[in-house]
Amino acid sequence: MKLWIRFSAIAVIFLDVLTVFLSSNGPAQESAQQVDPSDIVQNELRTLSNDNLTHNQNLSLSSVIKFQQQKLKGFGLVPNPQIVVYNRVPKCGSTTTLDIIRFLRKKLHYNVFNDIAPKMKHFMESDEQEYGLVRNITQFKRPILYIRHVYFIDFPKYGYRDPLYINIARDPVSLFISNYFYLRFGFQTAKNTTNAQNWKHEMPDERRAMSIDDCVKTEAQECARPYSNLIPFFCGSSSICQKRGDEAVAIAKQNVLDRYAIVGIMEDFHSTMKAFEVVSPRFFMGASVLLDKANQVLHERSKTAHKKEPDPATVEYLRKGLKREYELYNFIKEIFYKKIENFKERDLWGFDERNKESI
Ligand SMILES: *[C@@H]1O[C@H](CO)[C@@H](O)[C@H](O)[C@H]1NC(C)=O
Ligand SMILES: *[C@@H]1O[C@H](CO)[C@@H](O)[C@H](O)[C@H]1NC(C)=O
Ligand SMILES: *[C@@H]1O[C@H](CO)[C@@H](O)[C@H](O)[C@H]1NC(C)=O
Ligand SMILES: *[C@@H]1O[C@H](CO)[C@@H](O)[C@H](O)[C@H]1NC(C)=O
Repeated sequence: MKLWIRFSAIAVIFLDVLTVFLSSNGPAQESAQQVDPSDIVQNELRTLSNDNLTHNQNLSLSSVIKFQQQKLKGFGLVPNPQIVVYNRVPKCGSTTTLDIIRFLRKKLHYNVFNDIAPKMKHFMESDEQEYGLVRNITQFKRPILYIRHVYFIDFPKYGYRDPLYINIARDPVSLFISNYFYLRFGFQTAKNTTNAQNWKHEMPDERRAMSIDDCVKTEAQECARPYSNLIPFFCGSSSICQKRGDEAVAIAKQNVLDRYAIVGIMEDFHSTMKAFEVVSPRFFMGASVLLDKANQVLHERSKTAHKKEPDPATVEYLRKGLKREYELYNFIKEIFYKKIENFKERDLWGFDERNKESI
């Protein structure tokens, strides 16, 4: 189906840093009997009723959405965005989020374009290309949720209105470590670790076996100058953004503040899903309930294999190397909780406690 590139746990896996899609040993080799963890999640989610999703057994799903939309409108917020863009940062919980979206798009009847293709880049090579993407996104059948690992796209620069932007960030050292192990061992799926083997990235065995502590101690290139693309995901594809300097951090912060409806954090995934429900009920109502349910089955699922806690000294070293990323991450966290406080003050947060009389 065109609007939804079916994703199995394997198909959504990308190498974060190198952006290489290893198709050679991919899904084609999955045996027919093998159960897709995503399907397990979908089955589990199906046990939930609409009532469960609304957090209130007395209201229909559509009236809870309408009610939330009216409130958003009352506060001058966009009540019913037709285009939502989730330019997902890799390894920040997007697999789980995609499972939730895969379920909700059917329940709430919207379109999803999960833009994944072999060797797709995270950045746009030119303004022409970015303009092409803006045109593509604005031409999809609405309401549309567009998902892609892509650096921030500036719609107004090309004469279009901003879509509703959402994203999820993660503690930079955790993100770095997660990438480090992912590049070596791939994902450890719930049912079948053989698949993880299929997705290992080519590298010499000794490099693969190198612990992250040794990587830091020996100042191997990968760790001596730890790489992260967290900043450009919120800044954009320009050369300034890709340099990841102070200017890029400033632009990224401004975007987080002004352009994103919400940027959640993986460390507080429940509040992140709830915040998505608040700013975009049409696309996300029920997401936090679904997350809780999915968590019961997802447990082992997107964990990267062979993970061992690194030494505190390693963490400290990486923290220093990712100083600018922390500046952005801490800002994202601060704004996230400020927005939640703001939602609470405006009674946008507590749809759990709502009753019929308030309609
Ligand atoms: C895991 O998957 C591999 C192929 O991807 C298959 O050969 C193997 O039988 C599977 N193992 C289990 C326990 O399902
Ligand atoms: C879903 O709602 C039903 C009642 O409508 C309730 O019995 C059940 O416990 C709820 N399930 C969850 C997971 O909240
Ligand atoms: C826009 O869509 C066209 C047609 O599907 C595709 O060939 C092109 O690569 C897309 N552009 C971008 C920047 O994604
Ligand atoms: C649903 O409505 C009944 C009767 O009006 C009320 O007693 C109950 O508290 C309501 N439940 C919720 C979750 O609002």
